[in-house]
Amino acid sequence: MSANQPRFGVWALVCGSWAALQHPDDPFDASWARNKAQILEAEDLGYDTTLIAQHTLNPLGDGYDELEAWTAAAALAGLTKRIEIIAAIKPYLFHPVVLAKMALQIEEISGGRFGINLVNAWFKPELEKAGIGFAEHDDRYGYGREWITIVRDLVSGRRVDFQGRHFQIDGYELWPKDRHRERPRIYIGGESDPARALAADKADVWFINGQPLEDVRSLIADVAARPRQGPPVRFGLSAFVIARETDAQAQADLAYAWTLAEQDKPVLASLYGNADHKAVMFQTFAKNPHIGTNGGTAAGLVGSYDTVAARIREFHALGIETFMLQFQPFESEMRRFAHHVIPRVRRLQAAA
Ligand SMILES: Cc1cc2nc3c(=O)[nH]c(=O)nc-3n(C[C@H](O)[C@H](O)[C@H](O)COP(=O)(O)O)c2cc1C
Repeated sequence: MSANQPRFGVWALVCGSWAALQHPDDPFDASWARNKAQILEAEDLGYDTTLIAQHTLNPLGDGYDELEAWTAAAALAGLTKRIEIIAAIKPYLFHPVVLAKMALQIEEISGGRFGINLVNAWFKPELEKAGIGFAEHDDRYGYGREWITIVRDLVSGRRVDFQGRHFQIDGYELWPKDRHRERPRIYIGGESDPARALAADKADVWFINGQPLEDVRSLIADVAARPRQGPPVRFGLSAFVIARETDAQAQADLAYAWTLAEQDKPVLASLYGNADHKAVMFQTFAKNPHIGTNGGTAAGLVGSYDTVAARIREFHALGIETFMLQFQPFESEMRRFAHHVIPRVRRLQAAA
């Protein structure tokens, strides 16, 4: 992973579309068939990576399909040849030794292309209805810290002895070890103070929700300055793209996206009602209304192909290396971005 070139990724459509549910050209579809076709095509188009969000229940509500992240990741690992596959995980759902074993297995299937995205949960019903319970925000991070410490050591091939508040591990070691590199890459998504501290301490890459350039600048400065051992932490940004021939066309399509999004208000009200209100991510979202999830259009990747390429270069100059993207309709816009924006970014980069 070279810091000199931006890397582009797509969110897999495991929850269905990442924007309006009523888009006439993008009906809700979270099927395996769609996800398989989407990621195989993304790989062909030159995308570097894909992020598979993890939810057992679709946060949109009862009746909405949701593709299971880890089984999908394993299958995609077997079908693809080059693209990185990142699967998110909420620590409360799997014991760390089981998750470490699964991660090493997918790393093996993929030939060294697997990443774990640790996410510390915000959607309460998923854990509450299962009887697992939904711990308080900072307690979840305390649990997540012990959990990722164990996972990281196990996937690094170490023998683990761990006596913590939540886990007691007695001489655990996994075989086979990673045959391709030291271990799968570790990403962390989450904006709160404990999330940032954990990312600085344990992650290779910190994922930032889409937001304005100046906010991203200060977030990067904050995390980069925190205590850490080993190579510097790297940064990824989530964003929803609307790229068109002209700025005016892109702004018109953004306005259209807002009219479509208006129809989803009742569904989103239920989603927000089921969210942990201490999750800092939602405070950021409230400040920056956007299309898409995880900050979406708030990152400002809306405009002509040249405008979007220039904005990507600005983020890259701040330190964003991986751009994890959403579109709608997803597949046709993913193609458009690959054909029109990625080459412009590469040309600007070469000229610089
Ligand atoms: C790029 C990115 C991907 C995320 N993916 C997921 C996910 O798959 N599942 C999930 O429940 N939360 C996901 N999250 C949410 C966060 O992990 C975290 O739960 C949320 O930000 C609340 O924590 P905070 O208070 O630290 O912000 C993601 C966040 C980011 C930035």
